[in-house]
Amino acid sequence: MRREPVGCDSSVNMAVTVGNLRMQNPLTVASGTFAAGREYADFVAIAGLGALTTKGVSAKPWTGNPGKRMYETASGLLNSIGLQNPGVEVFCADSLPWLAEHAPGLPVVVNVVGHSAREYVDVIERLEDEAGVSAYELNISCPNLDAGGMAFGTSAEAAAAMTAAARAATKRPLLVKLSPNVTDITELARAVEAAGADGLSLINTLLGLAIDVSTRRFVFERRVAGLSGPAVKPVALRMVWEVARAVDVPVIGMGGVSCGEDVVEFLLAGASAVAFGTANFANPRVFVEALAWIEDYCRAQDVRDVNELVGAVREVRETSGYAKG
Ligand SMILES: Cc1cc2nc3c(=O)[nH]c(=O)nc-3n(C[C@H](O)[C@H](O)[C@H](O)COP(=O)(O)O)c2cc1C
Repeated sequence: MRREPVGCDSSVNMAVTVGNLRMQNPLTVASGTFAAGREYADFVAIAGLGALTTKGVSAKPWTGNPGKRMYETASGLLNSIGLQNPGVEVFCADSLPWLAEHAPGLPVVVNVVGHSAREYVDVIERLEDEAGVSAYELNISCPNLDAGGMAFGTSAEAAAAMTAAARAATKRPLLVKLSPNVTDITELARAVEAAGADGLSLINTLLGLAIDVSTRRFVFERRVAGLSGPAVKPVALRMVWEVARAVDVPVIGMGGVSCGEDVVEFLLAGASAVAFGTANFANPRVFVEALAWIEDYCRAQDVRDVNELVGAVREVRETSGYAKG
């Protein structure tokens, strides 16, 4: 049952920091679900975000995947966009000036994609002189062409090497976005933390599959696709909780977050900030509505600073420990 928080007059501190990234509130958007803000500006004041996280930006334009790209599932969305984007030059010429004009002061986290460590570093080096960039988020779910196409994010060594290369290229806050398609996500988290990440974001999409029974064909040309939306939330929450306990750097939580109550769950599990992804497609104003709900919740719970919620989940019984197995 949904709790209805009761409002009162006391003010709540909503500001958080993730590494050196200062945010006026803990809310951001998940890469690839908000472009670079322009398409949403007619519907919502994007400057109200704590930070804007962009669609993945590559060194050269990427055309993305052929065939069907989106497919709804029960409580979820499968996508096979293939990280289509016009490349870093267009991003610099087009998106950054637009953001500087329409949302000055809004921290911009650039999601970086590549097929090799060199390509990630090329994007970062091109952006280093651009004033409108606040932080980088490395999407390590891309296929590593130097290693036969296996995703960087499924190997602790490859993920750490890529993080170290990016670390050497910038002093800006460096976030690494983890893939959930691994056996033990804490191993990856520790590896990229040791390689210099200032923060971790998780989760990226879970690998899924859909089949059209009328044609008996795969729905997607690449067969498997990325699952997001409410269907993945419990998995994402579990992984955020596991990772937040395993590392010292802050965590940005995402995966099926759809309302203020979901945000609070992720904060309690250990996230310092939380992103709305697939939920933006159904309701572009979801972060504004969530922010109001969270402030009311904090007042009702006598929480003066939203940071008090981070990692503050309690055991079912005060005396019980976490039962293994
Ligand atoms: C259409 C779409 C495009 C995405 N593009 C990117 C991307 O470019 N880079 C990235 O790191 N994650 C990308 N993601 C993953 C999301 O940022 C997010 O991690 C995932 O969808 C889980 O959050 P959600 O369930 O709230 O959508 C994309 C997701 C969707 C649905």
